[in-house]
Amino acid sequence: MLITLWLRLGAFLAKTLLWLLGLGLLGWALATAWFAWQHSGPVSAQEMIPDGESAMTQDIIQTAVRIVDQHRESTRYLRDAHAKAHGCVKAEVQVLPDLAAELRQGVFSEPGKIWQANIRLSNGNAYPQFDSIRDARGMAIKLLNMPGKQLLADQPARNEQDFVMFSHPNFFVSDVAEYRQNVAAQADGKKVMAFFPSWDPRSWQARHLLIALATLAPPPDSPTGTAYFSVSPYKFGEANAKFRVMPDPDNCPAYTLPKQNHDLPNFLRSALSQQLSTDRVPACFVLQIQRQDANKYMPIEDTSIEWREVDAPFETVARITLPPQDFDTPALNLACDNLSFNPWFGVEAHRPIGGINRLRKAVYEAVSDYRHSQNAAQ
Ligand code: HEM
Repeated sequence: MLITLWLRLGAFLAKTLLWLLGLGLLGWALATAWFAWQHSGPVSAQEMIPDGESAMTQDIIQTAVRIVDQHRESTRYLRDAHAKAHGCVKAEVQVLPDLAAELRQGVFSEPGKIWQANIRLSNGNAYPQFDSIRDARGMAIKLLNMPGKQLLADQPARNEQDFVMFSHPNFFVSDVAEYRQNVAAQADGKKVMAFFPSWDPRSWQARHLLIALATLAPPPDSPTGTAYFSVSPYKFGEANAKFRVMPDPDNCPAYTLPKQNHDLPNFLRSALSQQLSTDRVPACFVLQIQRQDANKYMPIEDTSIEWREVDAPFETVARITLPPQDFDTPALNLACDNLSFNPWFGVEAHRPIGGINRLRKAVYEAVSDYRHSQNAAQ
């Protein structure tokens, strides 16, 4: 009698488990199909500005300035993001001598042209921390002596073209509305809950949480040894494009970085200095463009979407060389801190597009002005 009861209970549990498994699989298949349907082309090749974006931008500026105040050092106001530099280095950016005609756009119009540039390498965090801590790593390039009309009408004599990137291909939010909600929650100390703002499951952003976790990656061996992505899109002449910078050691003399002590707080600076200043070996990268194919799912207004390489390949347009140099001096480090990079410092041919870039236009300027004015007042 007891055995029969146990057997029946066992059969019942097994059937329930099978049902649950089946339902789980069905749910997963439906979710995957829904995601694929939602994330399929064609997409717009134009910007689409939602209502209320500029009011949200003002809110975000206030949060950003609050963060700068929170993290100020005793003698300096730092950047709101990418506060810690590994160094600012001089670089040469050479347009490929045999660049295909359709890729000759903007600063890449003249094959073989060499631009002098400054590059700032950084950790992403809002305040300086040990390099061994998981983080995004930043690369900001500033091409100098740029002829032509600048995008920012109030800075006509800037004569620069900036490319501002970090080490992950997509962003942890889609747009300005989500950025405002997420960053305000994070500034209040709610790290994971920032991605689950209410009880309504439709507001949950589990995929964006995974992107945020993947962006905070272990450190590379050196700032010269990792890839950097624009994440957000830009004009590329008439086309829309994202860009990235990849290490290209094959174009430089062979070099093996001696093992660095990753327990030291600033080992990424030491690695850069070891290569460029002590061993006097240059570092090489390529600058690449990925043009939008609007028939594929390559949206302009959603920075959480990585444009897939199977949909549009990256194409090399220029080579970047960091020559041997002594960059780690007190005077050069202060000058580095005082530089400002901004995706809107540049020319029309590379105009930043999409919501996150429109937001950055106001925020970078406000934060940069604020920290410069506070530092000048000290
Ligand atoms: C598309 C994604 C983004 C990328 C690739 C990116 C990358 C970077 C990098 C590399 C820097 C350091 C620049 C330097 O070396 O001086 C930086 C600075 C900064 N970022 Fe971003 N960022 C992104 C999105 C944002 C967003 C959405 C905001 C806020 C609205 C933001 C706010 C800032 C601010 C305020 C600074 C400091 C500006 C200064 O004080 O000069 N960033 N960003």
